[in-house]
Amino acid sequence: MNKFRAKVIFTLIIISSSNLPRLVFSLRLNPHNSNSCDNKVDPQTLQSDQMTVVINGYSERRIPLLQSIAARYSASASVSTILIIWCNPSTPSQTLSELSYNLSIYSTINAPIFIIHESSQSLNSRFYPRESIDTRAVLICDDDVELDSKSINFAFNIWKSNPDRLIGFFARSHAYDLNIKSWIYTISEDKYSIILTKAMIMKSEYLWEYSCGSGTVIEELRKIVDAVKNCEDILMNFLVADKVNAGPVLVGAERVRDWGDARNEGVVGKEEREAGLSSRRRDHRKRRGECIREFHRILGRMPLRYSYGKVVNSVGEQGLCEKGGKLLFCDQQVLK
Ligand SMILES: *[C@@H]1O[C@H](CO)[C@@H](O)[C@H](O)[C@H]1NC(C)=O
Repeated sequence: MNKFRAKVIFTLIIISSSNLPRLVFSLRLNPHNSNSCDNKVDPQTLQSDQMTVVINGYSERRIPLLQSIAARYSASASVSTILIIWCNPSTPSQTLSELSYNLSIYSTINAPIFIIHESSQSLNSRFYPRESIDTRAVLICDDDVELDSKSINFAFNIWKSNPDRLIGFFARSHAYDLNIKSWIYTISEDKYSIILTKAMIMKSEYLWEYSCGSGTVIEELRKIVDAVKNCEDILMNFLVADKVNAGPVLVGAERVRDWGDARNEGVVGKEEREAGLSSRRRDHRKRRGECIREFHRILGRMPLRYSYGKVVNSVGEQGLCEKGGKLLFCDQQVLK
């Protein structure tokens, strides 16, 4: 059996005829009892023209940003539902009811937004195969990355033509360090093997495979994620690469703002940025490298595969043409 025992508060708010949001009911679900893991959904029954967005939230300070990110996803034509998985058990439920009330404005016009308050901080819960996920694709993301809707649609289209792969906008890499004779976590100029959960699209079956194996190696690997409170994204990359024997697909975004990137003003204090950043980065990479080594040790093989290049949203011919006496890319117009 799955060890997941989080209680979930599932609050649904709908708009009354007077246009004032009103709390209609609030029911508690226990996903362990609701048997999402026992009843594997037949993917054929899931809808495939839109995806479910699962946003992980933790920091109350970031709620205003979370609100704008959820609103943007809600307005996207590729999105059917948004689930906010709130993984901070100490947040007062009053705060989340208020947030839910605020978000109900968007839900009336666009895709509905639901908040699920987890009673544990486990990072594995962002991959739980919830019964409310009724789409073949899911977009898993953090609460600090803002994508434009054109890029969301584009990435969803890329997923449709590569439904077995992981698709995303941020990539990292594993590598073998010959000096220490060991696997490390790194950023590489020309290749990648890991898509980050800052924004990751995949088929929802992978949620089931990640969360529901018990008495198996995946359960042991999930325990490492809980122990180190990190690396759930790396584990998902291990799982998918192992299944398809191929690396992920990196897509280019038109406009993306990563508020979690410490280069953003105001996210971390200036002092913190200058004093702590490089050492925190080193620490972060070191811990992620340890995850790669542990996963590799337990699995007994290295499933991660490299991919090269990035898919961009343009199909123009890029030959050079002479137009108006100038050498230009052939799909560029000369203004006369
Ligand atoms: C809800 O919206 C109000 C008004 O914009 C704002 O003051 C409040 O902080 C919001 N609360 C939450 C939890 O989002």
